[in-house]
Amino acid sequence: MVNKPFGSGDFDSRQFRTAMGQFCTGVTVITTLDADEKPVGFACQSFTALSLDPPLVVFCPMKTSRSWPVIETAGKFVVNVLSNRQQEVSSTFGAPGDDKFKSIEWDRSPLGLPVLRHSLTWVECEIENVVDGGDHHIVIGRAKTLGEVLQDKPLLFYRGGYLSTEHPRVTPAQEALDDFLTWTGGDTWL
Ligand SMILES: Cc1cc2nc3c(=O)[nH]c(=O)nc-3n(C[C@H](O)[C@H](O)[C@H](O)COP(=O)(O)O)c2cc1C
Repeated sequence: MVNKPFGSGDFDSRQFRTAMGQFCTGVTVITTLDADEKPVGFACQSFTALSLDPPLVVFCPMKTSRSWPVIETAGKFVVNVLSNRQQEVSSTFGAPGDDKFKSIEWDRSPLGLPVLRHSLTWVECEIENVVDGGDHHIVIGRAKTLGEVLQDKPLLFYRGGYLSTEHPRVTPAQEALDDFLTWTGGDTWL
């Protein structure tokens, strides 16, 4: 099969996936409880902070996700931000499984939801809105509780594989970080 050329609008889904894979992200596991109080969850890189005031986040589950209908019914979820020591956790939650929590240590959030131990941090949310996004849903959540922040390094996902990183030598000024979610300036904030 001849590859379609890059640089034209005539691309296939494999090329689209390759291009999007150049965007490095963190990895989260979105968790909740089903009606029988059984914990469920899935690995999710399509997570980001959306709004500072009100405090909103976004994630995008595939329409075929088995966790999503459970999360939707519960109306609430926890975003567990994975550290670079949790690559196996990502693999476990990134594949189908009836008991992904079998060898996972977890505690309960204030709303009773699963918080994965050793996560960099976590945020407990209530579903605010769900928007159609092609073969995914776009889920907007309102942050209700923030977990403590561990001093570990993040787990990164890039070009279909895992990466870790050192903390950057130069960090943005605190003021710039504080403004980040509502940043309206140019690209000079770093
Ligand atoms: C690093 C990583 C990131 C992922 N990001 C997403 C994502 O953003 N949205 C999504 O729907 N699936 C994502 N997946 C795939 C799901 O985790 C995977 O399809 C999982 O089997 C879904 O489980 P469920 O069907 O029990 O919900 C990701 C998987 C990995 C390993």
